[in-house]
Amino acid sequence: MTRYLITSALPYINGIKHLGNLGGSMLPADVYARFLRQKGEDVLFICATDEHGTPAELAALEKNQDVETFCTEQHEIQKSIYQRFHLSFDHFGRSSSSQNAELTQHFCKKLMENGFIEERTIKQVYSVDDGRFLPDRYIVGTCPHCGYEAARGDQCENCTRVLDPTDLINPRSAVSGSSNLEIKDSKHLFLNLPAMESKLAAFIDEHEAEWPIVVTSIARKWLKEGLRERCITRDLKWGISVPKEGFEGKVFYVWFDAPIEYIGATAEWAEKDPEHRDWKSWWYDAKDVRYTEFMAKDNIPFHTIMFPATLFASGEPWKKVDYIKGFNWLTFYGGKFSTSQKRGIFTNQALDEFQPDFWRYWLMANTPENADSSFTFSSFAATINKDLNDVLGNFVNRVLKMTASKIGAAVPAGGEWTAVEKEFIQTLQKRVTDYTKYLSEMEFRKALTELRAIWVEGNNYLTAAAPWTVIKEDPEKAAMILRLALNVIRLYAVLSAPIIPETAEKIQKLLNLENAGYAWPKADLTEELQTLKAGHAFNVPEQPLFQKITPEAVTDLCARYGGNPDE
Ligand code: MF3
Ligand code: ZN
Repeated sequence: MTRYLITSALPYINGIKHLGNLGGSMLPADVYARFLRQKGEDVLFICATDEHGTPAELAALEKNQDVETFCTEQHEIQKSIYQRFHLSFDHFGRSSSSQNAELTQHFCKKLMENGFIEERTIKQVYSVDDGRFLPDRYIVGTCPHCGYEAARGDQCENCTRVLDPTDLINPRSAVSGSSNLEIKDSKHLFLNLPAMESKLAAFIDEHEAEWPIVVTSIARKWLKEGLRERCITRDLKWGISVPKEGFEGKVFYVWFDAPIEYIGATAEWAEKDPEHRDWKSWWYDAKDVRYTEFMAKDNIPFHTIMFPATLFASGEPWKKVDYIKGFNWLTFYGGKFSTSQKRGIFTNQALDEFQPDFWRYWLMANTPENADSSFTFSSFAATINKDLNDVLGNFVNRVLKMTASKIGAAVPAGGEWTAVEKEFIQTLQKRVTDYTKYLSEMEFRKALTELRAIWVEGNNYLTAAAPWTVIKEDPEKAAMILRLALNVIRLYAVLSAPIIPETAEKIQKLLNLENAGYAWPKADLTEELQTLKAGHAFNVPEQPLFQKITPEAVTDLCARYGGNPDE
């Protein structure tokens, strides 16, 4: 029996994430985890906040908080937002945990033992007034090439030339503005990636045929350009300390310890329950585990090169990723969502506006799977109104209300299926098979198109079967039609549950099935569509399953979040 390990890229701690972060890793990972659980698979779904690094320190500084308090608070804020979106993590951990520190130090020691770490002295900029070393991007000055006055020490934003902090004219600290800077020598550890080039190339080769192009092309580009030694330590206070003499007061580079937190969070998960104690079996010598990672494309080099390099270089049988689901960008009206520039709609704001399933549905239907995709409020409203209101919601409301008013609020007995029903079931069966296949393959756009088509089939059947007319001459037959339609509603709850779990639960409550679970349908739907037997009572919806988003609401949302109602 295969066990399924699923991780989503770890959201960075420096602030509440925007919709792009949700839609480009955590949400699709959740859909996949839910789908597999419904199929009865053994799933472990892990995520965490990524808490180290300079941006966290500076965000804390801006809030006048010490960085630990800041991270604890922000972790809780993000965690509760993801709960409200119904992200079904088995554990949502913290990269600042003691488990991660222990593992990160373990890997470093192994890498040193195996000769993959080199010590070098490099020049670092120290800001006397800030009392800290400054990473390149936190040093600003005038660009020597174009004269732009706010060029960063790593790159000039104006002429895009790559810079060294020492190239800048009038360099100063981006933190305080102080120009009291010193260049100091500092010892650091470098991971010898070139020594692992052939191993990593073979690793990518092995998965070339299976992985999405966005993933393999980025990995290939890195390999083609030639790997360089990467510095894995930093002169910072906040982070995991380096277990080596002479490195007191230094910590690991955030991108070194962050992916290790996938393992760290699994160890944290073990603390929650004695039954989880064999957590290591998910990661170490885990031959029965299929490991899938979800991430946006900027994360791909770290997951195809850096993290596998760490695992390989350890010389220990740590689990390597089997499948990487990489995503392009979700844009906001064609432009960037930006946490630092507060552009677009953020996850907390999204929840204040609409129920989570609206967002989940739109994000999955428009996932930037093969190309970037653009969020607009008009597109959002159109999708919600059409697919959820007119198709799914309408079917559920229509069938429940009609049955209750014409026959009573229980599944009617009625006669035998006719050729029309058998054909309808055949059609559903074919589509459910495809839907299942697309979800297994994580082809989310295709899956969502299929799910919508499955809902449409229900409405088409109802229109063709016309129980409201039939009932006048043949009440037996009308009862049979409605009995089938009620069973189709139940099937819809099960099939929709990975995408819109709150709606699935509402439907199951309407059907008095709140504890029935969501076991995935078997390939043959005949039995599945006879689950609800005659006499099974249901509840009549007091209000429709969904509300439409009006044009006025779109205009209002555009005004508040910066969108254009005509786009
Ligand atoms: N925090 C990173 C980002 O937001 C992602 C880290 S993924 C990890 O891009 F696995 F390395 F943690
Ligand atoms: Zn420039």
